[in-house]
Amino acid sequence: MASPGSSDLVIVANRLPVDRIENPDGSPGWRTSPGGLVSALEPVLRANDGTWIGWPGGTESDLEPFEADGMDLVPMAMSAREIEEFYEGFSNATLWPLYHDVVEKPLFHREWFDTYVEVNQRFAERAAEVAAEGATVWVHDYQLQLVPSMLRELRPDLRIGFYLHIPFPPAELFQQLPWRRQLLEGLLGADLVGFQLSGAAQNFVRLVRQRVGHKTHRDLVYLPDGRTVRAAAFPISIDFNLYADLAQTEGVAARAEEIREAVGNPSKVFLGVDRLDYTKGIYARLRAFGELIADGHLDVEDAVFVQVATPSREQVEQYRILRDDIERLVGRINGDLGKIGRPAIHYLHASYPREEMAALFRAADIMVVTPLRDGMNLVAKEYVACCHDDLGALVLSEFAGAAEELRQAWLINPYDINGMKSALLDAYRTDEREASRRMKAMRKTVRQHDVAAWADSFLAELAAVRPSHGKSVRPAKRS
Ligand code: G6P
Repeated sequence: MASPGSSDLVIVANRLPVDRIENPDGSPGWRTSPGGLVSALEPVLRANDGTWIGWPGGTESDLEPFEADGMDLVPMAMSAREIEEFYEGFSNATLWPLYHDVVEKPLFHREWFDTYVEVNQRFAERAAEVAAEGATVWVHDYQLQLVPSMLRELRPDLRIGFYLHIPFPPAELFQQLPWRRQLLEGLLGADLVGFQLSGAAQNFVRLVRQRVGHKTHRDLVYLPDGRTVRAAAFPISIDFNLYADLAQTEGVAARAEEIREAVGNPSKVFLGVDRLDYTKGIYARLRAFGELIADGHLDVEDAVFVQVATPSREQVEQYRILRDDIERLVGRINGDLGKIGRPAIHYLHASYPREEMAALFRAADIMVVTPLRDGMNLVAKEYVACCHDDLGALVLSEFAGAAEELRQAWLINPYDINGMKSALLDAYRTDEREASRRMKAMRKTVRQHDVAAWADSFLAELAAVRPSHGKSVRPAKRS
C-alpha cells in the first residue's frame, strides 16, 4: 500500500478548476474558473483539507502543486502525444460519441486505449499519494473510468466515489467497445458510482451482470471479494442563487438592454448557448428557425436568433467538420433571409464571462436547448435561474437529462424538425401568464435541487455505502 498523504477529500477530474492568466507583472498565474462544479465543491474541499487533481490544459511539464481560493490544486502534466491519444482520441473521439447515442461514429484505436490506461494510472498514483488514511476520493467523468480500480489496488483503505457527467449508453451500444470489460471493472473499484439519470445506473448494473458476471440486486453489485458497489442517479445542478442574484444586478440588467438594442430591439429574442459540439443539435435548431422565417411564420424585423457557440476540442476532426457545417448554414440563412442590419442569426464563436452570459439569458425571451443527447445540460438550468421575473420560455430536448426535472419546458424531439418548429412558434406566441406559470414551477425545482444539494447527497450516500471504513467528510459551511 502506498503511504498516505494529508487530504481527507480528494477530487480527481480531467481538468483543474483554473484558467491560465497573466499577472499584472507579466508573469503567468492562475484564476479559478467559474464552473458550477467548483462552486459546489469548493466549500466541501475547504472544510476537509481538500485537494483537486487535474490537468490544467496545455503541455507544460514543470508544474508544482499550488493553492487557489483555499483549495490545494495538483496539476497533472500531459504530453503532446497524451493529449492526442488520451484526450482528443480515446476520451473525445471514442467514448464521447459512443456514450452519446453514437450520434457520430466512435473511432476504436488500440494505441489510444493504451494511452488511456497510462494516463489513468498516473492520475490514480497521484491520488494515492495525496489522500490521507481512510480519506474520501471522488473521481469524475468518462476520461478517468479506470481510476477507481487502479486507486483501490494502491489504497484499499480509501472510500472511493465515481460520478459520470455524461450519459451512460444502453448495453446494445456499449457492447461495441473492445475494452468494455476493462471499463466496467475500472468503475467497480468505486464504492458508489453516480449517474445523471436512473436509466443510466440501470444500464450499468445490467452490463456488469451480463459482461462481468457479478451478482446484482436492484442498484447493488456484489463482488467476489465481499465488497458491495452501489449505482444510483444524482442529477447534477447549478448554483441557483449565484445566477439568480447575478441576473438582478444593475450591471447585468443594463447589459441585457444593450444586447436587445444591438440586435435591433425585435419583439422576441431566441437564444442558443452551447459548446460547439455535434451532440448539441445546433444545426437542426438553426434550420428550424430559418424555415420559420422562410415560411413566413416569423419575420426578421420581429424575431432574431442569437447563437453563442463556445470553441471546443478544435483539434478533433468531427468538431472541425461541425464548425464548417454550422457556419455554412448560418451564412446561407442570413444570406437568403436577412436584410441590411437585420441578420436572422447572430452567430458568436466565442466564450464569455459569467456576467455576459447572465445578460444574454436576461435578454432572451426564448431559450432553445436542443441536444440530440446530453447528460444533463446546465445551460437550461442557468437560464431558468436567470429568469428573475418568471418570464421567458424554455424549449428543451427530451434527450437532455434536464428534461426529467424541467417538465414545464416546451419539450421537443430534436430529430423532428416540424415538431421543433411548432414548439418554437408556440413558445414565441405564448402569453405572459402561461410563460410565467411554467417558469415559476421550473425555478422552484432548480432552487430546491441546486448543486450544493447534489454534492451533499452524493457524499452522504458514499459514506452510507461504506460506513465502517475511514472518516466521514465534514459537511461544508454554506451561507
Ligand atoms: C463536458 C464533460 C466534461 C468536460 C466538459 C468540457 O461537460 O462532461 O468532463 O470537461 O465537457 O470539455 P473539455 O474537453 O474542454 O474538458
